[in-house]
Amino acid sequence: MPNTDDPNAPVPAKLPAAAGEIGATKPAEKAAAAPAAAKPVATPAVTKAAAPKSAAPAAASASAKVASEPEPNQLRRRLTWTCIAAFMATNLFMFLRFFFPRALFEPSTICNLGYPSDYVLGVSDRYKQQDRIYVVREPTQIFAIFAKCTHLGCTPDWKPGENKFKCPCHGSGYTPEGINFEGPAPRPMDRAHVELNAQGQIIADKSRLYMWDRSKGGRDEFNDPGAFIAV
Ligand code: FES
Repeated sequence: MPNTDDPNAPVPAKLPAAAGEIGATKPAEKAAAAPAAAKPVATPAVTKAAAPKSAAPAAASASAKVASEPEPNQLRRRLTWTCIAAFMATNLFMFLRFFFPRALFEPSTICNLGYPSDYVLGVSDRYKQQDRIYVVREPTQIFAIFAKCTHLGCTPDWKPGENKFKCPCHGSGYTPEGINFEGPAPRPMDRAHVELNAQGQIIADKSRLYMWDRSKGGRDEFNDPGAFIAV
């Protein structure tokens, strides 16, 4: 039997007790370790629960970012509306342009050549620049030559020193009566309709021309009424 009164005696009883303590501490350690072991389990649970709260702004920002970016449908829609707007604008422009036609305002074909008494015998180029008209006075008549070459339409010049009209383009020559006699001009220059107005002035109308196409055997219209004014 061990002497319990001996303080120096070994303490075998404590060993089992210690063993029991050890055994007793094991559940305690288990209990203490249990929370420690539960921590890793609880941590994901907490993060899982907290995840929706922290992910919501992130998802919102992400969706806003996606919404701000042009998607294929948005691009298609914008392109469609752009085409429609361009089509409507073009139609509007054409509709408004309709009220402003591109009219060519040509000068009047009617010109006032003044009084017959203003002219002496011969050719006058007074109205060449303004009206493209040469006024020719002869002893019995006055007529107005439309200064347009019958070759290609240039304006022949009056050459008083040579007593003829000369076309500067290809050299056609005309007599003072406007009859072609040299160069490629095929026929005489035309004459404008002339008449006297109420004041006795000569009124010429270049839209009514008298011609004599000799090369084709045409009729001489220079003696028709309106082709000259008798004086
Ligand atoms: S245009 Fe007058 S000669 Fe040719």
